Amino acid sequence: MATSSANVTLRNGSVVPAIAFGSGTKWYATKQDAKEAAEGDGPVVSREVVDSIKRALHAGIRHLDTAEMYDTEDEIGAAIHEFLAESGLERSDLYITSKIFTGATDVRGTLTHALSRLQLDYLDQYLLHTPFIEDIPDNTKTLGEIWAEIEAVHRDGLVRDIGVSNFGIPHLEVLREDATIFPLVNQIEFHPLLQQRELAEYAKEHGVTLASYAPLTPLTVSADKVDAAVLDALKEALDAIADRTGKTRAQVLLRWNLQKGRVVVSTTGNAKRLAALVDVQEFELTEDEVQTIDAAGETASFRKFWDDKKFD
Ligand SMILES: NC(=O)c1ccc[n+]([C@@H]2O[C@H](COP(=O)([O-])OP(=O)(O)OC[C@H]3O[C@@H](n4cnc5c(N)ncnc54)[C@H](OP(=O)(O)O)[C@@H]3O)[C@@H](O)[C@H]2O)c1
Repeated sequence: MATSSANVTLRNGSVVPAIAFGSGTKWYATKQDAKEAAEGDGPVVSREVVDSIKRALHAGIRHLDTAEMYDTEDEIGAAIHEFLAESGLERSDLYITSKIFTGATDVRGTLTHALSRLQLDYLDQYLLHTPFIEDIPDNTKTLGEIWAEIEAVHRDGLVRDIGVSNFGIPHLEVLREDATIFPLVNQIEFHPLLQQRELAEYAKEHGVTLASYAPLTPLTVSADKVDAAVLDALKEALDAIADRTGKTRAQVLLRWNLQKGRVVVSTTGNAKRLAALVDVQEFELTEDEVQTIDAAGETASFRKFWDDKKFD
């Protein structure tokens, strides 16, 4: 069986499978559809979501990404349970990331609930989903206080690697004042149309690994949202590299991200594209090709998620 063999090593020595299969975005929508179709108030587990996650695991993906906000922790739990029984692999062969947000008013209680939904006794990675805690109903805690509670569940062994998501430099600076463990990971939107170079420099300086979500945005963005000349130039660059390597535009984009040292969080419900996702570990872009993509997108600043928020 092919496995997702590319890894990224965090500052604490943890080895993270570089390709993560996301269970938000399209799977969030699939889960909400299943809930609407279900009769009664009992818990709903979307078989479609479970099966898609299992397909990813059987295809060789070893890192799954979920969140309290996605409402897919039950599905991830069922998929892991069934996959381990079918494959004979162990829990330790998988790397599971989840995120907390509104539940940050009670970090330990929310994590306990998440672990029970996931049918796990620890998480590999736990992230504070956004720094925009003013959106959490009835929250009275500061960012630093929430982070201290995340550090506490880490100390107790319930979560191994701790980090944040959607943090800009000012948000990270708030944590730097009091954190015992500075975040190991910052999961951010990252693709050629949103390169955030200052944040990348800062992360490098402070030993924060960046994980990139929405890596395929240049292929999914509607043309009226970005400068047509920039998008055309980028697609032209992707096509030339796709021709040379015999890969698809999407694979070139994913590979560009991997070669920046990122963990890449993507997803698909399409079998061919799933195989292509695993396959991005098997080829390389030249340094010139990486720079050509950098240059094609560098003047753009298109944010697909959290675009009404302030990041700097
Ligand atoms: N931390 C955060 O705030 C945050 C925010 C957003 C997302 N995330 C995480 O990141 C994961 C991935 O996000 P994303 O879905 O935006 O990632 P993405 O990798 O940019 O996009 C994946 C989507 O692109 C489609 N796609 C795949 N190949 C394509 C191609 N060649 N051409 C056109 N479309 C293609 C897929 O559809 P098919 O199924 O048809 O292949 C899929 O719906 C989420 O599930 C979630 O786990 C985190």
